[in-house]
Amino acid sequence: RRERSESLSDLMLKAQNFYIAELAKSQIGLSYLKERQISEATRQKFGLGYSPDNWQALEAVFGEKYSSKALEDCGLVITKDGHRYDRFRGRVMFPIRNPRGQVIGFGARVIGKGEPKYLNSPETDIFKKGQEVYGLWEGREAIRKAGRAIVCEGYMDVIQLSQAGFGEAVAALGTAIGEAHIRKLFKIVPQIIFSFDGDDAGRHAARRALEQALPVITDTQEARFILLPPEHDPDSLIKAEGSEAYEREIQHSFPLSTFFIDSLKAGKSMGTPEGRSQFLAEAKPLLLSMKEAPVLRQQLIGSIGLVVRMEPAEICSLIGIPFAAAA
Ligand code: CTP
Ligand code: MN
Ligand code: MN
Ligand code: MN
Ligand code: MN
Repeated sequence: RRERSESLSDLMLKAQNFYIAELAKSQIGLSYLKERQISEATRQKFGLGYSPDNWQALEAVFGEKYSSKALEDCGLVITKDGHRYDRFRGRVMFPIRNPRGQVIGFGARVIGKGEPKYLNSPETDIFKKGQEVYGLWEGREAIRKAGRAIVCEGYMDVIQLSQAGFGEAVAALGTAIGEAHIRKLFKIVPQIIFSFDGDDAGRHAARRALEQALPVITDTQEARFILLPPEHDPDSLIKAEGSEAYEREIQHSFPLSTFFIDSLKAGKSMGTPEGRSQFLAEAKPLLLSMKEAPVLRQQLIGSIGLVVRMEPAEICSLIGIPFAAAA
């Protein structure tokens, strides 16, 4: 079993090197990255490559030495009706590395417009999407030094942020951010800044991140939220307005408690008993989930009391948690 996963990551590394060499020869790939203002140094740091627009490019490189099964098991090749062909064609390749720096998968972006915009490796023996954090290995030193991680949505956000001096940027992989990702990050740093796209999907992702962070966060840890203007993601903001604009977004980021209250207030008429009770009904399961942060929870209940016009002790008894009078 162990030997087998080693050979899978060996194959992935060889594929990465192939894609890197192809990028160096590809006018299309190089000019695309140039257009996106990615420097050569950044390209190298993230091991970016290009998959030629060819159904059998990997065949030429690996065909002799590796079985169809091995190439299929690592998700690089698809077999259908006895024919095998490359999964990734004509795309910019983003290697996904595990915390030991081994290539375990790829994200692949179409050049220009096209569907799907990103194609990702399937789950394999060495690639479990719910757990891997993109950029963790590349950013390991910056993350340690900054004492924080900036969690964003996309590959290009991580890369552009890194290039702009925020090497502590990471992303969940083609899936929504989950508890496992957050746990992993809080093991390394005491602060996480969630920085999703400003569009509706990004707002939704932020709300989801809040829900996923609440059961995990402890009283000594901190989560903050950046809410970008609707037209931007971190990559486009930095390109349009520079790294100082992003630094300002960090300075103005919302603490978890503020984001919690604001996002639950949204769409409710808090001036009415109905609005306030809807707020409390929604807050209840979230507050109950905060198992690791009793003090933060108590403080949050204090702030919520002002919003719903109730005493913290009343809120506690209403949602069935003990009221710590001294907290
Ligand atoms: N994603 C994906 N498959 C898609 C679209 C998106 O896996 N078809 C994932 C990718 O990891 C992507 C992230 O979701 O980076 C965020 O999506 P989106 O905001 O649409 O893309 P961007 O990262 O902004 O892509 P770009 O800037 O290259 O257009
Ligand atoms: Mn988006
Ligand atoms: Mn985006
Ligand atoms: Mn983008
Ligand atoms: Mn702002």
